Amino acid sequence: MELSVVTGDITAQAVNAIVVNLFEGVAAPAGGTGAVDAATGGAISTLIADGEIKGSRGEVTVIHTIGDTYSGFVPDRVLVVGLGKSENFDLDGVRSVSAIVARRLRTLNVESAATIVHGAGIGGLDPEAAAEALAEGAILGLYRFDKYRTSSKPKFDETRPTTLALVNNDSSKAPALAAGVSRAQAFAGASIAARDMVSEPANVLHPTRLAEIATGIAAEGGMAIEVLEKADCEALEMGAYVGVSLGSHQPLKFIHMTYEGDVGNPDNNLWIIGKGITFDSGGISLKGGAGMGAMKGDMSGGAAAIASMQAIATLKPVLNVHMVCAATENMPGGGAQRPGDVVIAMGGKSIEVDNTDAEGRLTLADAIGFAKSNGAKRIVDIATLTGAMVVALGMGHSGAFSNDDELVDQMIAAGHTRGEPIWRMPLDPITKKQNRSDIADLKNTGGRGAGSITAAHFIGEFAGDTPWVHLDIAATNMGRSVHDWEPTGATGVPTRALIQLAMDLGS
Ligand code: BES
Ligand code: MN
Ligand code: ZN
Repeated sequence: MELSVVTGDITAQAVNAIVVNLFEGVAAPAGGTGAVDAATGGAISTLIADGEIKGSRGEVTVIHTIGDTYSGFVPDRVLVVGLGKSENFDLDGVRSVSAIVARRLRTLNVESAATIVHGAGIGGLDPEAAAEALAEGAILGLYRFDKYRTSSKPKFDETRPTTLALVNNDSSKAPALAAGVSRAQAFAGASIAARDMVSEPANVLHPTRLAEIATGIAAEGGMAIEVLEKADCEALEMGAYVGVSLGSHQPLKFIHMTYEGDVGNPDNNLWIIGKGITFDSGGISLKGGAGMGAMKGDMSGGAAAIASMQAIATLKPVLNVHMVCAATENMPGGGAQRPGDVVIAMGGKSIEVDNTDAEGRLTLADAIGFAKSNGAKRIVDIATLTGAMVVALGMGHSGAFSNDDELVDQMIAAGHTRGEPIWRMPLDPITKKQNRSDIADLKNTGGRGAGSITAAHFIGEFAGDTPWVHLDIAATNMGRSVHDWEPTGATGVPTRALIQLAMDLGS
């Protein structure tokens, strides 16, 4: 889909469909919607009076205006989308209705479309932000992952709509709208890259493939990348990470990508560390069969981290951003580590591996150790870490755990800006004790209670006093269209929040 910004009258666009909107409870539409109403002899206000159009959020009414139905009226169709109650309308609302409309345009087989910018008029939203949210919603909402379907393809043309113009009659606003659209393309494009990685099955997307994708993104964005092999990781004494990889025939790949946005100030940095388990069988502490296939998504944190770099390279915040993904499978092969084994993480801490299925925190321990030894000043790790997170917060929020109020507030604000909600969880001293081991410095499980918190505490031992946020995305990485701009399957969360954080820190 090609997006553009056009200055002009929405009623005069020579396209297959134009899109206007309506808040709930409005009887006499104004703005672009009013102009269409007037040009169609009151078609919209009549349908409102008749009770067909209510303006409820996501309601779409199609009015056919082909030929000489209304003399001088150029577009073939008018879509009227409901925005809901005006007091509740925000940028998430723009993303939602834009996604719904984009999918409707596709099922209508519309090739060319033009839309007014929802919320930028009487909605009172900043026009640039509204255009950005509209473009994000349309791009994200049209996403599908069906490369493996060879039969029963959907009945619509996947290339539609081919063009979508954002129309505004005030030419002075055009540069801001265009800036919003191009930013949206970077944010949404990265989120889609993450979705693609998460959606790929684990037989295709193993650590080697993940490293290849990261290498491609680095090359495209002019970023440095190094991929460490098992021997390199052993030399760095990453015993916790290497231990997880031992049961797999797939070689581990430790991926480190660097964006240099503030060359003279190496300390002005952010380290984004994503959990990269390309398949989590549980290892010797084997998981049950039901739903195990979803564990192909256990690299969702890594996918978000890698994909965020794509947009960061485009948007160029004044900040150095390092991305680390310690990729491996967690498999129960003959070489696999056993429950009860003791491993030594980079930096020397000993860990009793009580349960080989608590593997994410082991890989993150060494990824964080690597970041700290390379001068990390801020660390954000993202991980599908615990089933307990699914129980605690469900799909409404990713959980955040932190040793730094400022950084976690910035992370939560970034999530809010992008419609990727984050809720802070506690790191209390009581639950911290649950990670004590009888024979080593730490144990990789903390018992039944507070499973997400004990996991976070474990990672926190390695972050030390470096400002750090841990995001547990075990429930938000895949869903069933929780938000209208998300598909069933991989959501891409929290790719856009990570990019936003980098932009906020580097502005
Ligand atoms: N990858 C899983 C967590 C997970 C579960 C993510 C469900 C998404 C959906 C993680 O590696 C894991 O297995 N965690 C264990 C930890 C336990 C053994 C202490 C869990 O949550 O059961
Ligand atoms: Mn596991
Ligand atoms: Zn896992």
